[in-house]
Amino acid sequence: MLEYQSSSEEETKKIGEELSRSLRGDEVVLIYGPLASGKTIFVKGMARGLGIDEALVSSPTFTVMNIYSGEKLLFHLDLYRTQERELEFLGIEDFLGMGILAVEWGEKAEGQPWASPAIKVRIFPEGENRIIKIEGR
Ligand SMILES: Nc1ncnc2c1ncn2[C@@H]1O[C@H](COP(=O)(O)OP(=O)(O)OP(=O)(O)O)[C@@H](O)[C@H]1O
Ligand SMILES: [Mg+2]
Repeated sequence: MLEYQSSSEEETKKIGEELSRSLRGDEVVLIYGPLASGKTIFVKGMARGLGIDEALVSSPTFTVMNIYSGEKLLFHLDLYRTQERELEFLGIEDFLGMGILAVEWGEKAEGQPWASPAIKVRIFPEGENRIIKIEGR
C-alpha cells in the first residue's frame, strides 16, 4: 500500500497523474472518500497523466458516466446517485478492458463482478489536507 499526504488540490492531482501514468490501460480504480474530499480532483489528475485536458473532467453526477479520450480511454463513473439495481443496466462489462475505469463512490461498486480486482484509492480529509492511500497497484 502506498500512502501520500496532499495539502492542496494540485498535489492531489499530481498523485492521480502519477497513478494513471503507471497503468496498462485496462484497470478499474475505485475511489473512496466523503463528499468534497477530492475524488473528482483525483480523476482530473488521472486525466492529465493520460494527456487529457483536465478541464473536460467534471463529476458526472447526472450523466452517470463520462468518457475521455487521451493516450488511453478513461471512463469516469460517479455512483453517488446510482442504485445498485441500476448498475446492472449500465453494461460495464461491455467496455471493461477498453480503457481505465475510474469510479467515484467506489463502495457502491463493491460486489459487482467487474469491481474486482481493482486499485483502491482512499481519500481521508483532514482540514485542507488529505491522506491518500492507494492499494492494489
Ligand atoms: N488537498 C486537497 N486535495 C483535493 N481537493 C482539495 C484539497 N484541499 C482542498 N480541496 C478542495 O476540495 C474540493 C474537492 O472537490 P471534488 O469535487 O474533487 O470532491 P469530490 O470528492 O469529487 O466530491 P463529490 O463527493 O461531490 O463528488 C475542491 O473544492 C478542492 O479545491
Ligand atoms: Mg466528485
